Amino acid sequence: MLRRLLTLFAVTAIGLAAAQSQIEIFSWWAGDEGPALEALIERFQELHPGIEVINATVTGGSGVNARAVLKTRMLGGDPPDSFQVHAGQELIGTWVVADRMEDLTFLYEEMGWFENYPQGLIEASSTADGIWSVPVNIHRSNVMWYVPAKLEEWGITPPASWSEFLTVCPAIQAAGVTPLALGENWTQVHLWESVALGVLGPDDYDKLWTAELPFNDPKAMEIWDVFGDVLACTNDDAAGLSWQQATDMVVGGSAAFNIMGDWAAGYLTTTLGLEPGVGYGWAASPGTDGVFMWLSDAFGLPQGIQNREATVEWLRFIGTAEAQDIFNPLKGSIAPHLDSDLSLYNAYLQSAAADWQNNRVVGSLAHGTVAKEAFASDFATVMEIYLATGSAMNAANAAQAIATQVGLGQ
Ligand code: GAL
Repeated sequence: MLRRLLTLFAVTAIGLAAAQSQIEIFSWWAGDEGPALEALIERFQELHPGIEVINATVTGGSGVNARAVLKTRMLGGDPPDSFQVHAGQELIGTWVVADRMEDLTFLYEEMGWFENYPQGLIEASSTADGIWSVPVNIHRSNVMWYVPAKLEEWGITPPASWSEFLTVCPAIQAAGVTPLALGENWTQVHLWESVALGVLGPDDYDKLWTAELPFNDPKAMEIWDVFGDVLACTNDDAAGLSWQQATDMVVGGSAAFNIMGDWAAGYLTTTLGLEPGVGYGWAASPGTDGVFMWLSDAFGLPQGIQNREATVEWLRFIGTAEAQDIFNPLKGSIAPHLDSDLSLYNAYLQSAAADWQNNRVVGSLAHGTVAKEAFASDFATVMEIYLATGSAMNAANAAQAIATQVGLGQ
């Protein structure tokens, strides 16, 4: 009897010990942004019952609030075990330069990811000193969303250029419909990068980030002129709307179009239950057909965390094709992993995957890919200056001043 009790005690103790490993995964995928991450965590827990995942979220599209909380925690020596961050300059310009992240080259070697991930994505996630994150998806920024039945009702088609959009704008307004739904500040920066790409084309757009094309060059100033005209075709209450609320305007028929990243496809399908191609349609944002503006959500390994081994297990998992094929069909993104099974993805995502293969690829400003982090975060102020003054010159000069201050392109 005593022996049995002792055995029971030992088994329970082992069970408890096994379940005691706990990791905190920090992100801004809260509320209706949550299902993809929740599904990912659920599968991870099945595979690793001994590791408990704390799903810590700070709500707010594009991480506007989460990044501020993360900053306080990182600076205060209280890092989450792993956190969502955009692959590229966003992580490199913050916690990599501050020497707070671990180099993950060992994982890429161990897991064979050098063969399984696009070379360009690995390069964007790396510096000369290491590879800093594991990307879990590829999102597309330059997408225009609409409801096909509504466009038919109004007798319009998705505009192929901004000038076409501006031509059709008054007629849409005359019908009592907002031509382009817009939300809070970051969604305005999001719109701006699509306008910039449409106005400049990919070559000159790329030159903004290498500082070969100054922001106050006449070519780049034209972005603000077009942007101003486009803003006149948007809703007056933009500043108070989340990206989901702007998307809702299109779904509800009070707006014709919305420019948003393809997490909108996740929202439209996973949350609202709409079928791609039927309940909603999509096109490249005006003037950007054939170009895929990319960004990637990734997770890294902060230095000095308590549960390093369990966190490495999490990173191993999210880098697999299996994990990414659970996450991305719900999220509205495609898998960076080259062994992803496209049959698991809906019609929108299959078209995004084809474009990712065949299009010219450029990086996103608004989502941390391409510009130095200090520039990207200060760009919110440039946007405020433009909204307050309506002056292309003021905005362009402000952008150039920040570019010079942070040494953009160096
Ligand atoms: C992006 C992020 C997406 C999505 C979106 C809206 O920055 O990469 O995964 O969450 O913000 O919050």
